[in-house]
Amino acid sequence: MIPGHVAIIMDGNGRWAKKKSLPRVFGHRQGVRTIKEIVKAANGLGIKVLTLYAFSTENWKRPRSEIKSLFFLIRQFIRKELGELNDLGIRLRILGDLSKFPENVETEIRNACMITSQNTKFELNIALNYGARQELIRAFEIMSKQGIKKPTEEIVSSFLYTCGQSDPDLLIRTSGELRVSNFLLWQIAYSEIYVTNKLWPDFTWNDLRAAITAFQKRRRRFGGLYSKR
Ligand code: IPE
Ligand code: IPE
Ligand code: MG
Repeated sequence: MIPGHVAIIMDGNGRWAKKKSLPRVFGHRQGVRTIKEIVKAANGLGIKVLTLYAFSTENWKRPRSEIKSLFFLIRQFIRKELGELNDLGIRLRILGDLSKFPENVETEIRNACMITSQNTKFELNIALNYGARQELIRAFEIMSKQGIKKPTEEIVSSFLYTCGQSDPDLLIRTSGELRVSNFLLWQIAYSEIYVTNKLWPDFTWNDLRAAITAFQKRRRRFGGLYSKR
């Protein structure tokens, strides 16, 4: 079975550039090319939701110049690709706190999400200024404001950025790091984890296929004794 929801920690842009003796931004630029390819590949493979970790709440610790180029690239990606994403029936959603961005950028991103909001073929989530702990705190704050005193799992899920979407079946991390770096902590409770040494700019359709093949061999038991296939 093809996983319905795949989440990816796109890591290794900096190392890719370093290997080639290039500035880090070149790695990010190549990383955006990979995003384009993988979005199309995932859509073609029949995946329903793809969540990409693009900028974490901890990435603010990076040099200002790197942050600036990352935002420039993300904005350019959305601008350039919006038409095609829309034509392919892709719905864009941003996970994260956009209020830290300049107002015009925030408006532009929200606009792009609105333009694609009626699309149902495929959902593309981009996690931007995203942190899972911050997402949970935000959910608790909203619940408290609404006077919800006895939250259930369904209620908590409904206040997360991913509301209405199934949890990731498969979590991929590139560049070999064995950690989750504050990504979707609630939603990955039972995700299958796949780590590859490939650096994100080198990640291809074939690597996505390999991750899915590995996923298909897993036995998911969800705490029980038997796996459902
Ligand atoms: C991932 O690549 C992209 C972002 C976190 C924005 P990195 O920039 O983390 O690359 P490495 O880990 O330094 O190689
Ligand atoms: C995780 O990568 C965040 C994104 C891919 C956006 P990092 O490179 O920031 O993670 P750490 O610092 O190695 O944990
Ligand atoms: Mg990294």
